[in-house]
Amino acid sequence: MRDEATPIIDTSITDDSQRLAFIDGMSRVATSVTLVTTDGPAGRFGLTVSSMASVTADPPTLLVCVNRRNPMDAAIRSNGVFAVNALRADQRWVAETFAGRPRKGNPYDFQSGSWRLENTGAPLLIGAVAWFDCVLIAAHHVGTHTIAIGRVVGTGVEAGTPLIYGRRSFGELVQLPTSSPTSQELPDPVWDEPDW
Ligand SMILES: Cc1cc2nc3c(=O)[nH]c(=O)nc-3n(C[C@H](O)[C@H](O)[C@H](O)COP(=O)(O)O)c2cc1C
Repeated sequence: MRDEATPIIDTSITDDSQRLAFIDGMSRVATSVTLVTTDGPAGRFGLTVSSMASVTADPPTLLVCVNRRNPMDAAIRSNGVFAVNALRADQRWVAETFAGRPRKGNPYDFQSGSWRLENTGAPLLIGAVAWFDCVLIAAHHVGTHTIAIGRVVGTGVEAGTPLIYGRRSFGELVQLPTSSPTSQELPDPVWDEPDW
């Protein structure tokens, strides 16, 4: 959408420097780490995803962005259902398994967790700090990814602190100070993963 005040910009042009700057900028945006799952006629799949976002609470709706090269994309669209499991800080190994880079065991292996089902049949991870059971209501292709929009038909929460991803590393929430410390008082960050 464009009004008279908006300059005309050719959005089809993205050079490498813009792309790299975008990726670098996004690496500074900390997110929760979620495990998206699906099950049905197209099979059972899981994928570590940081692109989950709330769309609206009226009615409860969320979105995830899934790379179209990953089998999860076709499976969600074919099964018509998916679940989003927000991982707990000590479930980092699940994130690594479903990102295809397990420290031990096999990539994308559901043996690496305990699961239960609710309405849709998409696997819910025991111990996740929040889960959202979803029916797919829309899927839009944008570049390399599909935006899958889900109507939430079930939600639950469990105790624990969420797993966070930022600066290409896993971490967890820390209590924010009530007063602003000087830069000398700030502890060194504990980013220990080189890249993803
Ligand atoms: C913290 C984290 C967040 C991720 N978020 C997404 C995401 O939002 N969407 C997506 O399609 N892949 C995401 N990925 C990547 C997939 O989990 C997986 O690693 C990737 O699809 C594997 O691709 P490959 O088989 O080409 O190595 C994320 C990975 C990590 C570690």
